[in-house]
Amino acid sequence: MREVFEETKIAGLTLKNRVFRSATHEGMGNEDGTPADELMSLYLKLAKGEVGTIITGLTAAQQSGRGSRNMRLFDSDEYIRHYTEINHKLQELDTPLILQLAHSGGLIDKEIKGLEPLGPSKKKHVLFSTLARELSDTEIKEIVTNFALAAERAKLAGFSGIQLHAAHGYLLSEFLSPGANRRTDRWGGNTDKRFRILQEIIEQSRQRVGDFPILTKFNAYDSQKNGMSLDEACRIAELFQQAGIDAIEVSCGTFDDGFNSVRVPQIPVEGLLHLLPQIRDMSKVKKAAVKMAGSTIVKKHEPLYNYNVDAAAQIKQHVDIPVIAVGGIRRLADIEEIISEEKADYVAMSRPFIIQPDLVNKFKHDDQQQAKCINCGYCLLGVSERQLKCYYGRVPKG
Ligand SMILES: Cc1cc2nc3c(=O)[nH]c(=O)nc-3n(C[C@H](O)[C@H](O)[C@H](O)COP(=O)(O)O)c2cc1C
Repeated sequence: MREVFEETKIAGLTLKNRVFRSATHEGMGNEDGTPADELMSLYLKLAKGEVGTIITGLTAAQQSGRGSRNMRLFDSDEYIRHYTEINHKLQELDTPLILQLAHSGGLIDKEIKGLEPLGPSKKKHVLFSTLARELSDTEIKEIVTNFALAAERAKLAGFSGIQLHAAHGYLLSEFLSPGANRRTDRWGGNTDKRFRILQEIIEQSRQRVGDFPILTKFNAYDSQKNGMSLDEACRIAELFQQAGIDAIEVSCGTFDDGFNSVRVPQIPVEGLLHLLPQIRDMSKVKKAAVKMAGSTIVKKHEPLYNYNVDAAAQIKQHVDIPVIAVGGIRRLADIEEIISEEKADYVAMSRPFIIQPDLVNKFKHDDQQQAKCINCGYCLLGVSERQLKCYYGRVPKG
């Protein structure tokens, strides 16, 4: 029977257990896109806490995909040397570090000068109040090349692999979604055509990096009109496998869904008003409206726990490559069940590690059966401007 704390391999990479730290934007990018010093100590804490594999927070493959000021950038060879020591230290601790590469598309902070919201087709993003412009064919080809170049740099910097961020309404996920991608050229239309940008990124990356592990994270479903459906996601998983992806992480939702990808027991209205710049900087009148009606305007989604496990299990029926489930996984007993019943090959968690980077160690030694995280969602609201931290449901003073 499969076990949580057993050694396995993905594309030749040795993983000491079946628990991943899911990509979590750390807000630890300097103004120039280099990593802040705190990033290394965070990864060391996670590695010492026995996380099997760490996926970095999203990192922009090119400047136009950098959604917030504190997001890291990886668009030139200059960035390589900033990661060699981190990777070396993590290798010493037998903890693979996978670089998540992303393009923010329409999910960008409008305050960043010169940045334009972009997408496969024109689209209004509700939460970010942006209107994404349709990318040209030439721009899409540039994006493909930039992802492949970033993959090559990741290998040179000593990362253990990359993960292509194709979830949550970021650019690559928008290309996959029939609602967001209404193109009629070679980049849109049927599933194969909407998949083409990923197909080409994977192909070009492979040419540059060879056997280096390439993973992806994508949405099994969302709640957008004509958005991603589980049937379509199963077909996309097959395409990922054919294209040569080494493992897929199954997530859900877009920022336009409200709290779907990152679920909360109740809408954190105080957090929205104080931590999220888009709302905090609104006029008094609009803020009062959010205060009154925030929890009815912004949607929360259910269930709160293990919410992508069934989708992952279904997707797993369609592929032979490893499947990673993420979303509301909190209890050791649930992880054991997911693994032993082969609903997924691996599990990933994000928020629990913010408050407890040593959680896997606690699980392993039976010191704790359940994560302390209360799923308040404040960590997400705070991270677009500040470094990642746990607020434990409390808005900071001042
Ligand atoms: C603060 C924060 C930052 C996140 N940043 C990323 C990210 O950079 N890339 C990504 O794919 N998902 C990101 N996510 C989503 C998580 O990886 C994960 O899919 C989601 O939080 C559900 O898992 P959880 O219930 O274990 O937190 C983030 C979530 C949070 C709370």
